[in-house]
Amino acid sequence: MARRSFILGTGSYLPERVLTNVDLAKMVETSDAWIQERTGIRQRHIAADGQLTSDIATAAASRALEAAGLTPADIDLIILATTTPDRTFPASATAVQAKLGITRGAAFDVQAVCSGFLFALATADSMLKQGLFTRALVIGAETFTRIIDWSDRGTCVLFGDGGGAVVIEVREGEFAPDEGIITHHIRTDGSKSDLLYVDGGVSSTGTIGHVRMEGNRVFKHAVANISAAIEAVLDETGLTSADIDWFVPHQANKRILDGVAKKLNIPEDKVVITVDQHANTSAASIPLALDHAVRTGRAKAGDLILSEAMGGGFSWGASLFRL
Ligand code: ACO
Repeated sequence: MARRSFILGTGSYLPERVLTNVDLAKMVETSDAWIQERTGIRQRHIAADGQLTSDIATAAASRALEAAGLTPADIDLIILATTTPDRTFPASATAVQAKLGITRGAAFDVQAVCSGFLFALATADSMLKQGLFTRALVIGAETFTRIIDWSDRGTCVLFGDGGGAVVIEVREGEFAPDEGIITHHIRTDGSKSDLLYVDGGVSSTGTIGHVRMEGNRVFKHAVANISAAIEAVLDETGLTSADIDWFVPHQANKRILDGVAKKLNIPEDKVVITVDQHANTSAASIPLALDHAVRTGRAKAGDLILSEAMGGGFSWGASLFRL
């Protein structure tokens, strides 16, 4: 008897306040035209004063539970991918657990910056298949704009706040190789950390710090690393890009998405793009884009989804799953 994890529902949440490129052009020397041409971004959402990452995560998780037809009592594992936790400790996932009123199982955070959701999904999938838990909330949520240097035009135009979540459940039985959550490839290369990092931390400066990035150098690695991870998941399964119903990438920059899609022969109409509306919401961007695809009626039960991400670390990866 084999064990396989399945996605039961998706949900997402975006804070109300919207900051447009035109608003940003009043704050730093930039323009709507530059931002759109170089990134595809038009606007981003900004968390309200006092709104925490765990609030955003809880809202997204509640919607995913509702979509799955489940209640918090059905969940025994919460993994929250975030770079912007409420507090240094405890894990923000435990705040989500408390806000949802869950008193059993376990909750913890995963930190892999923009790749965090895929790392969390791979972790939850493995723990479920190992028989440690039954049903998990896998969440990506960020108040990323709180670690932005609003005077640095090279980074402040790129990011936004938000959250997304999926509910996954493990089942026992005989399964076709391409049912449910199929496979993941997750990778890191710590030698490149100086190209994308935050210049603060608990044990270094004792401050929170701000995002620093050599954007054009990160860009060059992104397409190559992402393409390699995608090729790895396809090679492992024997599936090809022609089998994919929807490509749901991390939403950092539309030029990166276009580059990867072109390299892998994925047609434009199969690519889910939300970066124009949300900007880069780091660990939240994949579940936000996935939920958008589901709720707009594009991605349906049975569709084969390919997802990828690349972020600080460097960290990167790809996942393949059927809805
Ligand atoms: N408005 C106007 N001009 C700008 C802006 C801005 N907001 N930002 C930079 N510029 C200028 C630069 O100063 C530079 O000017 P110069 O030629 O006079 O020196 C010029 O525009 C070109 O700068 P580049 O950095 O070479 O521009 P590029 O085309 O590479 O675009 C960008 C920059 C959008 C950051 C791009 O490199 C990118 O998206 N990189 C990848 C980001 C990414 O994927 N990160 C990983 C995920 S994030 C995470 O993990 C937290």
